[in-house]
Formats: sequence, structure tokens, C-alpha cells
Amino acid sequence: MAKTYNIAVIGGDGTGPEVVHEGIKVLKAVSKLYGFGLKFKNYDFGGERYLATGKIIDDTDIEKLKKHDAVFLGAIGHPDVKPGILEKGLLLRLRFALDQYINLRPVKLFPGVETPIKNKGPEEIDYVVVRENSGGAYTGCGGNVMIGTANEVATQEMIYTRFQVDRALRYAFDLVRRRHSVKKPWRGLSAKDIEAGKVGQLTLSGKTNVLTFVFGLWERAFYEIAKEYPDVKTDYCHVDATTMWMIKNPEWFDVIVTENLFGDIITDLGAMTQGGMGIAAGGNINPGGLSMFEPIGGSAPKYTGMNVINPMAAICAGGMMLDTLGETKAAAAIEAAVAGFTPQMKSQAAGKMGFSTSEVGDEVVKALKALAKPPAKAKPKARAPQDASAAKDPTEKAKARRKL
Ligand code: IPM
Ligand code: MN
Repeated sequence: MAKTYNIAVIGGDGTGPEVVHEGIKVLKAVSKLYGFGLKFKNYDFGGERYLATGKIIDDTDIEKLKKHDAVFLGAIGHPDVKPGILEKGLLLRLRFALDQYINLRPVKLFPGVETPIKNKGPEEIDYVVVRENSGGAYTGCGGNVMIGTANEVATQEMIYTRFQVDRALRYAFDLVRRRHSVKKPWRGLSAKDIEAGKVGQLTLSGKTNVLTFVFGLWERAFYEIAKEYPDVKTDYCHVDATTMWMIKNPEWFDVIVTENLFGDIITDLGAMTQGGMGIAAGGNINPGGLSMFEPIGGSAPKYTGMNVINPMAAICAGGMMLDTLGETKAAAAIEAAVAGFTPQMKSQAAGKMGFSTSEVGDEVVKALKALAKPPAKAKPKARAPQDASAAKDPTEKAKARRKL
């Protein structure tokens, strides 16, 4: 029997529900085409609920979420709620409570999408950032003393355990293997690398020259674990230099792994290079548990309800969700449909797309249907590209035409 996945939906604040609506539209379409089921259940967590009830999310809510196969999140952030309350109380709370220790953020420039980087296109901008999502400065260890005096002290500790570092690194090494193979190695490898059996590259982005304790640990773990992955080329880059290369030579990256705060910062930069927040998706992943997928752009309150916000990031987040659930073909189909449609969009910015929010969802669904293989018995469509050699050979071409 076809598998059915139970998805918890948190539309959240601002434009969150609108983009999630389009994401679900696309997910429903792809599930029909690829023969699996999806059941969605809405949860009203977010700013409105907090303002009305004072509640953000509690242990009972988290237990309810745990009954699902994945969480699909719109956006968190309400103009009437002090910054930090919902971010910490909802988004970070979920990431920590569900131990979503990986924040996976692809930086992929789709065809026809404008990038602020001169002379770089989809060939050059196509890498993934693995942001460690459970530790570092986000751990919440620190405090203030002598508040309000001239001697006030504030600390915020960047904390890492070997356990946290190892699991993030292993995920990243495995990801390189998932992205490439001996037959299809990463385009950035040299002939020498390929000869040495490398399939792709993992860059550790850190700050070993200053944060010697934390990155001493990361670096040691990185090179130790690398021994188990002889097919992965290792690379190291200080985080400040990483930002430089992300602009100057984005094609140098395949998979980047980094700690939480650095990952937060560099993925906003990465998002800009792939066309902006409207198209940047992310996954908060617990490989053995419940993962949560979201557009990383935020709630954009000023565009709420106007049908102008770009839902592409939510659509891509839906694709990432399916990939993590194991529906890899359907996930690849969403990516292909998005890539097929982006050239028609005027821009990825809200209100400038040349399409409304709902039209973007409709168009991606159309592209999905067009891409889906015709049933086995059906004859190839006249529009379908013919075998290139047949097209060149007049007799073959004639034969092909007769078959139609
Ligand atoms: C992100 C956001 C969050 C973070 C905030 C909203 C807590 O910036 O998902 O990148 O810092 O992780
Ligand atoms: Mn961020």
C-alpha cells in the first residue's frame, strides 16, 4: 500500500500561511503524481495565538508534533511581539526540543534567477551549507551581572561537545557522498582529485586562528572523521574568508560545514547570492527523528494577505521535506519543476515576480505535471524531445514520425 505521511503545518505569522499554502499545493500535486499520501494538520502556533492567549508552545504541544512525520513551517515573527520572544520561544524551542541538530541550507541559483554576483550563474552557485543547529552561542549559556552599571558584564558562551561536532561532521561527509558518486563527481574536482578517487568536497568553515578552543575541537574531529571518508576531499576556510569566496568564487564550494552562529550568518549571504530570501529554503533536520522545513525568509508582515509574496522558498522547503522523508524522486521533481519555471519569473522579489503568490504555486504544479512521465503505454508526445541522433538522421526521424 502507498505510504502516507502525516505532516504538521505551522503557517505561523505574516506571510507564512500564504507561502505554506502554495507549498502544500505543490506537495499535494507531487504526491498524486508519485503515488504516496500526505495528510496535513494545522497548528496555530505563532504571534497571533501568543497575543491572544500568552501561550507560545509547551511540552504537550511538542508531544503532539512528535506524532507527525515532519513539520512544515511558514514563518515566525510578529510586529506586535518583542523580537526574541517568538524566535526563542517557538523556533529555537522546537529546534532544541526535537534535537534538529542539522540546519541544511542549499545555496542554489536556479535558471534565469538574477544574482548580484557578476559573471556567475547556476553552474557556479550550487552548494550546500550544513549549519550545526544545536550548539554554539545558541546554547543559551551566559548571563549578565552588574546590569545597568558602567561595569556590566555580559557573556554568551560558544559551547560545543565532541558529540555535537562529530554528528554534524558525519552528516556533512555523508551529504557529499549523497550529492556525488565516482560516476558523477563534483564539477570542482581536479583530474588529480578524481584520479585519487575523490567524489566531492567538504569545506570546514571555522576560525581556528582565534577561537582556538572551539575550532581546535572542530578541526581535530574533522580530520579524524575524514579518514573514514577517503573519497571526500577536505578543505578548510576561515569563516571571514568563506564570505569572501562565497562572493568571489562560489564555484569553489560543494558542501560547507560550520558551527551554528557562523552558519546563520553565512547562509543569509548565500541566500542573497541565489536570488534572495524569496527562494531560500532550509531544513532543521534530526536524521533519526522529527525534522522541520521552512523558507528562511521570515514573516514579511508588510506583504501579508496581498498575494505578492514569493512562495518559492516554501515550495523548495517542501521538496527538501520529501527528500528527507525518502521520497527522493518526488523531491527531485519539485526541484526540476522549479528550475523549469524560474526563467519565466521577472524577479524573485515580493510584488515583482510577474506572477502572484498563488500563480507561482499553480505554475510549479503545471511544470510538475508536464515533467511527469506519461504512463508506460502512452505514446511519446509530439513535443517531447526526440532522441538527438534520430532527429539528425532523416530516415530515423521519418521512422520516429511514423510511430507517432
Ligand atoms: C534563522 C533565523 C533564526 C536563527 C532566528 C529567527 C532565531 O535567523 O533561521 O536563520 O538565528 O537561527
Ligand atoms: Mn538567520
